[in-house]
Formats: sequence, structure tokens, C-alpha cells
Amino acid sequence: MTEDMGRERWSSTLGFIIASIGSAVGIGNIWRFPYIVGANGGGAFLIPYLISVFLFGLPLMLLEFTIGRSTKTSVITAFQSILGRSSLAGLAVVAIAGLVLSYYLVITSWVLAYALFFALNSPVDFHVFTGSYFPLIFFFFAGMAVFLTVRSGVREGIEMISRVLIPVLVVILIALVAFALTQTGAAAGIEFYLSPDYSKLTDPGVWTAAFGQAFFSLSVGMGVMLTYGSYLEGGALFRNASIIVVADMLIAILAGLAIFPLVFTAGLDPATGVNLTFITLPAVFVDMRFGMILGALFFAMLFAAALTSAVSMLEVPVAAMMDSRGYSRKRATLLVFGVIMLIGLPSALSYTALDLRLLGIRFLDLGDYLFGTIGLIVAGLIICIVGGWYMDRNRICDEIGGCGWQQKIYIVLIRYVVPAILLITLIANLFQVGG
Ligand code: PHE
Repeated sequence: MTEDMGRERWSSTLGFIIASIGSAVGIGNIWRFPYIVGANGGGAFLIPYLISVFLFGLPLMLLEFTIGRSTKTSVITAFQSILGRSSLAGLAVVAIAGLVLSYYLVITSWVLAYALFFALNSPVDFHVFTGSYFPLIFFFFAGMAVFLTVRSGVREGIEMISRVLIPVLVVILIALVAFALTQTGAAAGIEFYLSPDYSKLTDPGVWTAAFGQAFFSLSVGMGVMLTYGSYLEGGALFRNASIIVVADMLIAILAGLAIFPLVFTAGLDPATGVNLTFITLPAVFVDMRFGMILGALFFAMLFAAALTSAVSMLEVPVAAMMDSRGYSRKRATLLVFGVIMLIGLPSALSYTALDLRLLGIRFLDLGDYLFGTIGLIVAGLIICIVGGWYMDRNRICDEIGGCGWQQKIYIVLIRYVVPAILLITLIANLFQVGG
């Protein structure tokens, strides 16, 4: 009881919603979503994506909020209280959050570098950039920003930074979309982005891509939403989760409306992956009127998105240490952050002159596959099983407003449907690489 009284809290439900949107809206929305849509059937992709978001992502988010708010503690201790004993399950989820952060931070640092280069009117070629040791310096600075935010606490750090950065992000995004739509390539860009190719819907790969993208983009399955929920007091969880989910989706869709018209106006091919953001788009900006300003704005927006997501990933292990070991926030943050910087170093170095690789694959790409893809699914499964199967049903109902038919459907979703979907996505991903 005394412990609980001292627990940090969001300043209001709105603060909680903005911080959660800050976590959800990240590199996954602004960079990953658009090219995944473009490559997987354009507008037709929105069908599997909407299904994934509302039928699988939203219930998992709701489950995480429920676990966090009802146990009032973070992942490891929450699982302990549900399972009645300590287990490795919580530790696994916390470790995966930290491991994903270790490479997510590297990409965040590139974004910071690009924002600065454009603001200083001196964009740098990606290969020149990663052929130097510059990325290491930015890795340090981006890391410091994340560290200092989390160290300042839930309200003064995480909530505050989201309250400032998310509105800025939205304003920049809308301005970029408005500008992009007036350009000559707007129609061709939108045609590429959204014209539906329904034949793609028979390809199972398109569906598993939608599942994976939805979970990643909503920040579910890694204990982030569970931890954020533990700082929450009252409020209707379903309504709050719906707001977060819809905001996340709108921002992702808008990002594509900014990117593809510009790419087509410049007469370039829409690339996928790292190339789209770090090679194609910079080339677009370099050749364009007001390109330096647009580039600086675009990368500043991406940095705002990435920073608030990285912060949420760091909060998972930090809160876990505080709650399970009784560490102060300052001490826990320093310790966890130190470890994550060390683990992230090989990823950071894999895109420098050192070109660090394991089994011929760059560390960062390996991390994205092992932790960001496979790890995320495994952690999601753990959360579903612990929350869906071991948590008392009445306790779940208490949190989500009764035990009517809607709640019964919800329980079926988190017990059977979501784990099944996660399992299918896991097998599909393992198979893809194996085959
Ligand atoms: N949702 C973030 C993005 O879209 C990434 C993220 C995943 C953040 C999981 C926290 C937890 O980039």
C-alpha cells in the first residue's frame, strides 16, 4: 500500500493518451508503413491492416493496459502478482524491449543526424555518412536525449516531451502533406501508394506483413503499454485505446501522402527499406526548391516520432528495475541505459566504416530480425498467455467495464485469436528466412 502511494502517475488521462500516442507513433509509421503499403497491394493493403489493428492490435493494447492498471506495477512484478510466483516470462519481455531499443536507437540517431545536416544546409550521402565514424557521435547524442527524458520521470519527462513533440509532429506532417499534394507528381505518387491491387490479398505474406506492422506500430507486445497503464488511475480503457489506435493509423496514412508525391515529383523510383528514407528522400529534397527546409522539417518530425518511441522502450526495463529491485529512478535509468548503449554499440558500428557483421549480416539488420520481428512476437505471445489465461476473468472485466457480450468477445480474442495470429506470424517469419 505504501509502495503504491508513492507510484508515479500521469498528470491526467490526456497526458496518458498523448504519451501512448508518442510511443505508438514512431519510425514504424512515418517510414515503414508507407513502403509496406506501396509494396503490398497499395490501398488493398488497408483491408488486412485495418483487420489487424482493430481485431488483434487493439485487444492486445487493451490487455496490456488492463494488466498494468489492475496490478499497478510494471512487467516483472505484474506477472509475479498474476502468476503468484516469479517466472522468467516477465524478464523475457523486458529483455526484448531493451534489445529492440538497442538498435531502434541507432536509426533514431541517423534521423537526428539528417535533421541537423539539412538544417545546416549540408546534406550528406548515406554511404559517406555510414562510411565514417559520425554515426557513433549521433548514437551518443540520441541516447542522451532518451536517457535524460526517462530519468526525469513519468510526468516531467515522458509525458512532458510527448505533450511538446506530438503536436509539433502533427503540424509538420500536415504542412508536408499539403505541400506534397500541390506538386506535379502528386497524382502519380498517390496512384502508386493507394491504388488497390486486390489480387495481392490472396498472398499470405501480405497478411503476415499486416499483422507484424500493426503490432509494431501500435507498440503492443513489448510491455510498453502495460507499463504506461500502470501509471494510470481511472478512465474508460476501451475508449482511450481506440483514440490511440486511430491516431496511430491516421498519422501512418498521412505520412505516405507526404512521401510518395514528393518521390514521384522528383521522378525517382520509390525504394523500400532503409533506402527510401536515407537515400531516396534526401535525394528528393536536395533537388527541390525549399528542399533544405523541407528536409530539415521531415527529419525533425521523424526524430520527434522516434524519440518518444525510444523513450517508451527504455521505460520498460527502467520501471521493471525500480519495481522489482526497489532502485531509485535515477539509478535504474543509469544502469539500464549503460547496458543498452553497450548492447547497441555493435548495431551502431555495423553502419560505420567498421561495417561490423555477424554471419555476413549487419548487426543492426540482425537485431531488427531477431528482436524487432521474432522477439516482439514471442513477447506478445507471453503477454497474451499470462494476461488472457492466468489473470482472473473478473479482474479483467472490472477494468474494461463489466462482463457483457462485448467483453466475452474480447476474452475470446485475447485467449484464442490473437495468440493464434501471433503464432502464425511467427512461423511465417521463421519460414521466410529458413526457406
Ligand atoms: N511503435 C513504434 C513505431 O512505430 C515502435 C515501438 C514498438 C515502440 C514497440 C515501442 C514498443 O516506430
